[in-house]
Amino acid sequence: MDRYEQVIELAKRRGFLWNSFELYGGTAGFYDYGPLGSTLKRRIEQIWREIYVIQEGFMEIECPTIGIEEVFIASGHVGGFSDPLCECKNCGEAFRADHLIKHITEEADGLSDEELDKIIAQNSVKCPECGGDLGNTYEFNLMFKTQIGPGTGRKGYMRPETAQGMFVDFLRLARYYRDKLPFGATQIGKSYRNEISPRQGVIRLREFTQAEAEIFIDPKSKSHPNFQRFKDTAINLYSDAAQDIGKSEIMTVKDAVDNGIIAHEFLAYQVALVNHFLQRVGIAHDKLRFRQHRKDEMAHYAIDCWDAEILTDRFGWVEVVGIADRTDYDLSAHANMSKTELSIFIEYEQPKMVEKFVVKPNMEKMGPMFKGKAKIVAEALKALTAEELEKEEIKVIAGGEEFTVPREMVEFAQETIKISGETIVPHVIEPSFGIDRILYSVMEHAYDEEMVPAKESEEEAEDEARIVLRFKKEVAPVKVAVLPLLTRQELIEPSKEIANKLRNKGLLAAYDDSGAIGRRYRRNDEIGTPYCITIDYDTLQDNTVTIRDRDSMQQVRVPIEKIEDVLYELVHTDRKFESAGKPL
Ligand code: ATP
Ligand code: GLY
Repeated sequence: MDRYEQVIELAKRRGFLWNSFELYGGTAGFYDYGPLGSTLKRRIEQIWREIYVIQEGFMEIECPTIGIEEVFIASGHVGGFSDPLCECKNCGEAFRADHLIKHITEEADGLSDEELDKIIAQNSVKCPECGGDLGNTYEFNLMFKTQIGPGTGRKGYMRPETAQGMFVDFLRLARYYRDKLPFGATQIGKSYRNEISPRQGVIRLREFTQAEAEIFIDPKSKSHPNFQRFKDTAINLYSDAAQDIGKSEIMTVKDAVDNGIIAHEFLAYQVALVNHFLQRVGIAHDKLRFRQHRKDEMAHYAIDCWDAEILTDRFGWVEVVGIADRTDYDLSAHANMSKTELSIFIEYEQPKMVEKFVVKPNMEKMGPMFKGKAKIVAEALKALTAEELEKEEIKVIAGGEEFTVPREMVEFAQETIKISGETIVPHVIEPSFGIDRILYSVMEHAYDEEMVPAKESEEEAEDEARIVLRFKKEVAPVKVAVLPLLTRQELIEPSKEIANKLRNKGLLAAYDDSGAIGRRYRRNDEIGTPYCITIDYDTLQDNTVTIRDRDSMQQVRVPIEKIEDVLYELVHTDRKFESAGKPL
């Protein structure tokens, strides 16, 4: 069993992840989150919200998961959101052509269908299922199509990213933020992609959860007001150039910007923030890197993109977050499609005085002379230079006709005028998180197996192996398990009371009285519960209980009246376990 199988076996057995539609044989690309999986997911999402919504101030919005056709024509998804599909001529199985040749070339991502076919033929690549010959590669659009309303209805698509909702709502958002850049909006929700061949568990789903922030910035000011926060943070960068030599480099965020590795402060801050979030939820820092997209793999909307990649046992480096500079691509595309200006007026801090050449046609004189054409003649005059306007006879072409304008009918001068701001189309920096991939990686990095001395479980005479999910306390689904030593009424009652006290303090506490105490410890280790409280016969004498720490398996004795405060502090603050009570 490799680590992936161990994690998935545990995830299924303990209620984290289940194959969807299992009762009917299941179907690839869909997973259900069981009670612990859902709770873990919410905890990861909550930390994301704390960082992006509360700290960064990018308010969350919620748009439909079905979008109308215009949105995805404008965004480029109808025309270009596809993967190369290649089918077996013998068994009909479908594959992603670029995945079939990953072992031959690392650059498979950016190849055209013809180039992929050539490599498949040259290397005699066959169907991995039956060994049959493969057909020609063609582009398969990944969006799920649907119809809105009955009859001929209106064409719709399940959204392939949450991002478009924020672009379509741009004008509303700009008003909400009082037209002040930078501002951002976020969404956490389902996205849908009809992946060709999803065989990697929750890494590649057809329905998955994205957490995305669209941050609208002034393209002329790409410094970040809070850059100081991360300037000395060391991050593992695998830039475009570094990929030529196959070696990533650890450097500070400031050095990355100063050396031109990350294009600007604003993007670098976002990379560092993703790094901060991933480590906070429990991703091992030495299994995390940021890989820059190569020019030929860039999404159609981006000019620069850094993927946060996590090292996994079976799949190697997996992209979990894409941080893209989307420029004004989306706003301009939606402006064209909707014929609505999607821009913002930026007021300068100080109005600017600029020299301007101003042409003032005298309409009172021009009106009688040029009648209905006076207006277009006047407009044409405004485009002339001082030299042309100084001639005795001024000639202009307007509406395809030439006009001669007497000199005294036009005045012109160099004037100083006051400009208070300018209209711009903001650029967008977008961190796009795949929550399912992050959740799986958190589980894999938390997974541990170790030998436990016999004394931990009285019923075991010999050392035994224990599986433990070493979740960060903040993400652990269950925070504390309350365990009466024996299933006796006199122990059950105070145990249930303690569980209730903890719940009233907002801690997710599980009550468990089935099986030997050693088994119950193991069960809680396997689901990553940081603390177990045991109620025994001493409790009835001295009103104290035992708290056991998941990672060290150390135990301390704590008075019942302090239990909820102590547990709250252990879970939510830096309080050290050893300080929680009397060691046993
Ligand atoms: P890949 O190359 O692995 O298909 P992508 O480059 O298409 O991924 P993006 O379009 O950048 O991915 O999507 C943003 C994030 O959404 C990804 O970093 C990933 O975490 C998540 N994501 C994308 N597709 C899937 C999927 N099919 N299943 C689960 N998560 C996904
Ligand atoms: N919003 C980025 C992506 O899903 O591709």
